[in-house]
Amino acid sequence: MFGVRGLLRTLRRCSSAPCPKRAPAARLKVREALEARELPGADVKVQGWVRSVRSQKEVLFLHLNDGSSLESLQVVADPSLEYRDLTFGSAVEVQGKLLKSLHQKQNVELKAENIRVVGPCDALENGYVHIHTPVITSNDCEGGGELFQIKTANKVKEHEGESHFFKVPAFLTVSGQLHLEVMAGAFTQVFTFGPTFRAENSQSRRHLAEFYMVEAEVSFTESLQDIMQVIEDLFKTATSTVLSRCPHEVEFFYKYIAPAQKGRLERMLKNKFLTLSYTEAVEILKRAPQTFTFKPEWGQDLQTEHEKYLVTHCGEVPVFVIDYPYDLKPFYMRDNDDGPQHTVAAVDLLVPEVGELCGGSLREERLHFLQSRLQRLGLSDTYQWYLDLRKFGSVPHGGFGMGFERYLQCILGVSNIKDVMPFPRFPHSCLL
Ligand code: 4AD
Ligand code: MG
Repeated sequence: MFGVRGLLRTLRRCSSAPCPKRAPAARLKVREALEARELPGADVKVQGWVRSVRSQKEVLFLHLNDGSSLESLQVVADPSLEYRDLTFGSAVEVQGKLLKSLHQKQNVELKAENIRVVGPCDALENGYVHIHTPVITSNDCEGGGELFQIKTANKVKEHEGESHFFKVPAFLTVSGQLHLEVMAGAFTQVFTFGPTFRAENSQSRRHLAEFYMVEAEVSFTESLQDIMQVIEDLFKTATSTVLSRCPHEVEFFYKYIAPAQKGRLERMLKNKFLTLSYTEAVEILKRAPQTFTFKPEWGQDLQTEHEKYLVTHCGEVPVFVIDYPYDLKPFYMRDNDDGPQHTVAAVDLLVPEVGELCGGSLREERLHFLQSRLQRLGLSDTYQWYLDLRKFGSVPHGGFGMGFERYLQCILGVSNIKDVMPFPRFPHSCLL
């Protein structure tokens, strides 16, 4: 039915039309600014990386590129503005007016009224670019050790001492996030959609050993809200597309499998998703009239039973739980200001019946914070390349992942994840 391609189309559409509620007015990509010949005098904001700085007595020229076009946008600024930090590779946000160029024939240029340096970084591009992140990787992004290791079937080579085909241990990916972070430093907004593997010894109704995950990574974030808005937009746009393109198939599920799902989904689409902090969530759970198998306690992971209770408590509307304890989450999550090392800017989206549908965070872009966390974990050497991304400049960024099978469970009301796919892989079962 809808499938991976449909979701990709939706993501592309989301990316070409960023959320009207969240995006600042008239934020344009460089390509859009260059093509806006009909918009002289328009007030716009453009973000990107400085490709050249040319300072003259009367005027300062910048060339700005965000990767959406091979051509850069010429920014003309008054040299009296504060530009001391501007250099090749600076990440900036320029606000001003689009004008027909006085300096370049036929072209549009941006007369800057304000330039804000967002971070020093050398990179290109904008828009959600689809990145094919590798299936084989040498990292354990989530740090949970739930990895399938890859070995060659060729025993002779192993006898010859070549135990590692890649010279280092290699695994099936648990997430494309770290690769996306590399690419988000070049293309601003990127996503991947591919098979993901977890050696979790779980027979639950929401875990598979092989599943599909859509992941997005966004540069120039201002807060976790930016990521939450992308998640909510993706969920609502993709679901509305499924409902309008496949009404008969969806009706079939509502008729024979989950009659209550129709109303539930309508409520999810109509209402704004709610937000609770992890601390508030634990308080709600502690006050709950029911007894849980796992006693809710600050510092402990939320279990499926807790997640489902929270969603019911919130009126069966999807709930973002944010700001989880530092010690519960992977090394890459950004330390919050309430710390140090108290909570991180993490977000999980909980939905009716399923529980966690998406997991994401702001990433720790500050070199010294990341360095000390990796040092404590004994991972500094493994993640030297990841530290280098910060060492040579980074921008505030974040992202999330959404399990595709859990998404199907959520919209169709299928209670067991093994029923939304033809060949489910789980412990003790790898048929065909
Ligand atoms: O919360 P998770 O582990 O987040 C990550 O992997 C991040 N690196 C993603 C990112 O920020 N780019 O996984 C994300 C989602 C979960 O919320 C869930 O929907 C799904 O992936 N998921 C699974 N689905 C089926 N079976 C499993 N074993 C799953 N593990 C995670
Ligand atoms: Mg998670």
